[in-house]
Amino acid sequence: MKYDYKLLMDNAKEAAKTSYSPFSKFAVGACVLATSGKIYKGCNVENSSFGMTICAERCAIFKAISEGEREILAVAIYSPNTDDCNPCGACRQVMYEFQGKNEIEIITESSGVLNVRKLSEYLPYGFKI
Ligand code: THU
Repeated sequence: MKYDYKLLMDNAKEAAKTSYSPFSKFAVGACVLATSGKIYKGCNVENSSFGMTICAERCAIFKAISEGEREILAVAIYSPNTDDCNPCGACRQVMYEFQGKNEIEIITESSGVLNVRKLSEYLPYGFKI
């Protein structure tokens, strides 16, 4: 599908600015496009008890789901610290839970150029009950 990938990436960049990452100093921002057409931003939120940290992607997805969304179309991810900031394994499985008929697209950026990849490339055999 063709979505406004640049708009999603711009929002992921905006979200990275609110990252709370004093421990890793690795800021991440994410932007979710839901089937309603609404977008939801999220950032990583770290904690002194390191394991309590939440990734930017899950922050954005949980915001969307808690607002009543049930299907996700695309997720843009950005970190000022690295090119091509890809989702961790846990976030891939969380995305899989909310995939509808259309495969979720994941947008990252390498040297200013957008990469658009399918969730199935990242997670070929997701778990679903
Ligand atoms: N992080 C994310 O926000 N998303 C990912 O997919 C991978 C990692 C965050 C968690 C932690 O705050 C920092 O990046 C370093 O691992």
